Amino acid sequence: MSRKPLIAGNWKMNLNHLEAIAVVQKLAFLIDDKDFEAVDVAVIPPFTDIRSVQTLIDGDRLRLLFGAQDLSPKNSGAFTGDISGVMLAKLGCTFVIVGHSERREHHNEDDSIVNSKVKAALANGISPILCVGESAAIRAENGEVAHVISQLKAALSGITPAQVKKIVIAYEPIWAIGTGNVATPEDAQSMAQAIRAQISKSAGAEIGERLRILYGGSVKSGTIREIMAGADVDGALVGGASLEPEEFARIAKFHR
Ligand code: 13P
Repeated sequence: MSRKPLIAGNWKMNLNHLEAIAVVQKLAFLIDDKDFEAVDVAVIPPFTDIRSVQTLIDGDRLRLLFGAQDLSPKNSGAFTGDISGVMLAKLGCTFVIVGHSERREHHNEDDSIVNSKVKAALANGISPILCVGESAAIRAENGEVAHVISQLKAALSGITPAQVKKIVIAYEPIWAIGTGNVATPEDAQSMAQAIRAQISKSAGAEIGERLRILYGGSVKSGTIREIMAGADVDGALVGGASLEPEEFARIAKFHR
């Protein structure tokens, strides 16, 4: 089965809503129907930008997808500062990033919180982009596959095979994020293969074959083609290079 690649730009805590509009307008100009036939392209801006991005994408009928960087495990209530999946669904978010290493580190999100967020996204019809990945110390001890598989099992605990169909996995080795130190195509491929094998085991071969697995960590236009050459790598979660529309568009056009 052929999987449609996904190139998603995680803006992190960058670009206000006015800058977001300018970036999306540039992307709309740079990325054309031919690209959208071949690749799904998404922007993942900060919460404060999402309404502006939605209005522009809907109003101009752009084929660009969008999502959010986090969500609450709860749907509503006394949770000051949090944003729910209900709210994100109402804004038309296709995706929500869950379990990014920056949230695991700076907000102490453990596997059980990640699991509850995956469930909250699915309950609201939003596809989680579930991030997994090892630190440099774990890789130095050759523990990366065991670590990633354990993150994966915990995050997907209690999720039915039918729900797994909606999930996207992003393998983001922590040592590659924001360092310029991109994983080798072989490392990205071998982890993607291990992730797919695990999902095939837990959810069945057919769902394993359908699952989109992205690589993230210092992806640039100069390295995207070799990363995408891996048979199990179905796209990229791009941080820094997604803030510059020309560069992000070059990445989205990797197939040309
Ligand atoms: P960089 O592309 O800036 O390394 O960030 C990757 C990332 O964390 C995407 O979620």
